[in-house]
Amino acid sequence: MDTARFISRQIEEIKIIAGSERAVSALSGGVDSSVCTMLAARALGSKLKSVFIDDGLMRQDEPSDVKKIFAKLGVKVEVVDAQREFFAALKGRLDPEEKRKAFRDTFYTVLGRAVKKSGARFLVQGTIKPDIIETKGGVKTQHNILEQIGIDPQKDYGFKVIEPIRELFKPGVREVARALGLPERISERMPFPGPGLSCRVVGEVTPERVALVRKATLIVEEELAVLKPFQAFAVLMNDRGTGVEKGQRKFGHIIIVRSVESQDAMTAEPSPASWDVLRNVTQRILKEIPTVTRVAYEVTPKPPATIEYI
Ligand code: XMP
Repeated sequence: MDTARFISRQIEEIKIIAGSERAVSALSGGVDSSVCTMLAARALGSKLKSVFIDDGLMRQDEPSDVKKIFAKLGVKVEVVDAQREFFAALKGRLDPEEKRKAFRDTFYTVLGRAVKKSGARFLVQGTIKPDIIETKGGVKTQHNILEQIGIDPQKDYGFKVIEPIRELFKPGVREVARALGLPERISERMPFPGPGLSCRVVGEVTPERVALVRKATLIVEEELAVLKPFQAFAVLMNDRGTGVEKGQRKFGHIIIVRSVESQDAMTAEPSPASWDVLRNVTQRILKEIPTVTRVAYEVTPKPPATIEYI
């Protein structure tokens, strides 16, 4: 790919589509939405408003970190606190697809409000090629796919969507991120799903269960960093496992550690983690999250498993 040409073409296209209108960029701090925010900021300048939706499902310190990183790049980010709204929408839902749809509806309702409030008519978002392929193929309802499956964002949420990197796969997005001068922390960052930690809580998504998986995620990311995986994370199961503590039976949480190697997330292989790495991550999870009684390492490739659990 001719990266410089791609960048100038996309900037031109955003200018043509938005004209003199305002636009909102939905920024999550992942590489996809970060690239789109930078492209749109270059195209629209002060006519772009960048919004970070705090859905309560992000990793540790994410909202404040993203705000700081983009401030350094000259992009002001508004954080919208919608945690209560997301947890209310997810309450009592156990089915993976129902959870995904509840997330998507809340996400676009909150964004729709932000777009309306800022007087914008366009939403810039970081949809990439695999998102479209997997949602159209019926693998799962990716949170950011609307028009491609017949949802009219103008009618349902009040804005038109601009998707500057919809033809790219992850390696291409990273190339563009580097060329745009995004810091390594963003350009080389592991993929993180739009519905956030709700993809990593099997069963009901509650603030308590998300807090637990957030802690475990941080430990897994730190301990497995040596493997330089495509993606590594923790999953909280819906069942409990029997354990023993000081001679007493203890019925605790079960955490799955998942780490995969992949090029484009369409297929994946489990990371060949060494015994030392597995022992260290397990010991830290058990010590730092005492309600966990069992930790397991997942070795299923994609297919047949998907990377995430919902
Ligand atoms: P799966 O679980 O389908 O995931 O093998 C493939 C890649 O996509 C990420 N993922 C998502 N990303 N919105 C996103 O932006 C979503 O709804 C979503 N679901 C999964 C996942 O983390 C993996 O990298």
